[in-house]
Amino acid sequence: MDLENIQREAQKAIKNSSNLEELNKVFSKYCSKRGKIGLILKSLKKLSKGERIKIGKQANEAKNLLKSEFNKRTRQLSKEAVNKEESIDVTAPGKKVFLGHLHPLTLVRREVEDIFQKLGFSIIEGPEIESEWYNFDALNIPKDHPARDLWDTLWLKTEKPLLLRTHTSPVQIRYMEKNQPPLRIIVPGRVFRHEATDSSHDIQFYQIEGLMVDKDVSSANFKAVIQEFFNQFFKREIKMRLRPSYFPFTEPSFEIDMACLACNGKGCSACSKTGWMEIIGAGMVHPNVFKNSGLNPKNWQGFAFGMGLDRLAMMKYKIDDIRLLYSGDLRFINQF
Ligand code: DAH
Repeated sequence: MDLENIQREAQKAIKNSSNLEELNKVFSKYCSKRGKIGLILKSLKKLSKGERIKIGKQANEAKNLLKSEFNKRTRQLSKEAVNKEESIDVTAPGKKVFLGHLHPLTLVRREVEDIFQKLGFSIIEGPEIESEWYNFDALNIPKDHPARDLWDTLWLKTEKPLLLRTHTSPVQIRYMEKNQPPLRIIVPGRVFRHEATDSSHDIQFYQIEGLMVDKDVSSANFKAVIQEFFNQFFKREIKMRLRPSYFPFTEPSFEIDMACLACNGKGCSACSKTGWMEIIGAGMVHPNVFKNSGLNPKNWQGFAFGMGLDRLAMMKYKIDDIRLLYSGDLRFINQF
């Protein structure tokens, strides 16, 4: 076959190869050393000098031409292969992005903060590791006083006695040391207790401390603030009552119950058949607490309260075991 025909045949084969594998076969068939053109080049020595120069030139030109066409086709075919693999179907439905969500305790905390902010309270934070002074002494709970037994404490192994705060009340002192009344604050935060866990107790939980101090803030003010808070938080009129109680840092002290939401005050298992749920500890700030914060109790009076955030969440969402809130169990957590 003469060179021209070989070249034409090869060009056709290059054009017609539909994938890289086929194309490579075509290349070796014509352009490799043992390919059709390769063999012609090899046989040149048998020819006369004149012929050798003429045919040698033609053969090399044909080979170069085919090589360049081969390269071109290679690029084309590889591009097609990539496109086939990465083709985008613009009509395919989008992949759903998985969105996280807030923990029920965070939802409740934010809601409580919103309500109190509307009532003029600022949101303050304090440290989770506390000194004995702020957690106990300054709050009128001296060492060796039996009242300390009310708070089972986790102590740290430090030279100076430090502990994990058992309540958010120490922030009352910290705040009044630095700020003059009139003042209105709430303090949300985590607290710790050294105690056995059950469905309503855990070694950690959240409290919201409240403090309002001015010239003549009374327990009537306290009642009004809490009634308003309950109504807004539970989105209906909530029946509540104050009961006398004891806390070292308040005088007088009281506890606030709200009518059980599970049975509307009739009495059920959730409220131990009493119809009432204990929600808040509170009272009028004790003169010693003012003194320990550097304020003169003759000039100021006010109320303080502490409520369990977890309890509020449990009431709001009808959760019957506090430990679920800390379990990290997605079957529970994904319901919020
Ligand atoms: N700190 C108390 C506790 O953890 C709750 C409490 C009671 C806070 C009365 C107060 C208060 O501010 O006045 O049990």
